[in-house]
Amino acid sequence: MRIIGTGSARPSLTVTNAMLEKFLDTSDEWIVTRTGIHERRVISSERLEDLAAAAAMRAMENAGVTSGQIDFIICSNVVNEYVTPGLGCVIQGMIGATCPTIDINCACTGFIYALDMAEAYLATKDMNNILIVCAEEPARMMNWKDRSSCILFGDAAGAVVVTKGDDLKAIRLSTHCKVEALYQKRRLQPTPFVTKEETDTDGVVMNGQDVFKLAVSSSIRDIDKVLTKAGMTADEIDLYVLHQANVRIIESIRHFVNQDRSKFPFNLDKYGNTSSASIPALLDDLNRANKLKTGEMLLLSAFGAGFTTGACILRWSK
Ligand code: UT7
Repeated sequence: MRIIGTGSARPSLTVTNAMLEKFLDTSDEWIVTRTGIHERRVISSERLEDLAAAAAMRAMENAGVTSGQIDFIICSNVVNEYVTPGLGCVIQGMIGATCPTIDINCACTGFIYALDMAEAYLATKDMNNILIVCAEEPARMMNWKDRSSCILFGDAAGAVVVTKGDDLKAIRLSTHCKVEALYQKRRLQPTPFVTKEETDTDGVVMNGQDVFKLAVSSSIRDIDKVLTKAGMTADEIDLYVLHQANVRIIESIRHFVNQDRSKFPFNLDKYGNTSSASIPALLDDLNRANKLKTGEMLLLSAFGAGFTTGACILRWSK
């Protein structure tokens, strides 16, 4: 496959660390030194589907394809206001496409999983253009009294259009069940028949230190494996486009591959962790700023609840 267009959309409201200081026992200094995040965008008046459709339209425009030329939509999403139908169906209607859609929930790793699915579909089915939309509102999952988690996240949508091609040089996905590291439970509708005890959590429950360690160790392992698979060295990668969760996680990975900081683009200072939207939205920022050159090798790597992880090496040829 080959990426031929990128798009993104973010909520209008910027929430700075100083704004968080007003209702949380935290400080700009703590958040910046421990995470690298200065501000994030948080949904206020927008609907997530508006952001998703806007990102999709921008990606299609960038790719030079119309909604009628999209053969399949893969939507990566953890939570949105609809329990059913899938968000992909809603997006399909909003952008005027007529193709089948599927939603996946692989948490922050969703974009890499979606790329893998797109590669398989393009290789085995009669499809030319696949739209991947990652639309996330993690801010709506947080307990905004929990200072160790709510400060990390922001809302966003990122999208790409992929077509047949030979740019995906290696990809690796993994899941290691470790629910307790990062999860949220909700209580379902009661019935006259349920006898088991059910609980819901007050927003996301996260063991930050466990996630941090898992994130670094799994990313290092994935990066090592995809480099070997592609027969490449870390030096041959032009840009490491990593999941934007914490600048200290990115730094730890950078030390492992021993590469210059300039190879690690980031925007988490402005947007925080936007779950699966983080990599496609960063790709779009880079693409629109003309920072991606044809022939460059990108290494994408992400991790998230599950624990899911994934990495791939992609030639940029847009
Ligand atoms: O896509 C995956 C999503 N999740 C992640 O990426 C999370 C990965 N983990 C992390 O990024 C880091 O573990 C955190 C940023 C969540 C926490 O940083 P840390 O360096 O691991 O801090 P810590 O949990 O060891 O906490 C150190 C101290 C604690 O106080 P005491 O017990 O030492 O007195 C916390 O209560 O910092 C305190 N603390 C805060 N203080 C001010 C925790 N959150 C805050 C806060 N402001 N927002």
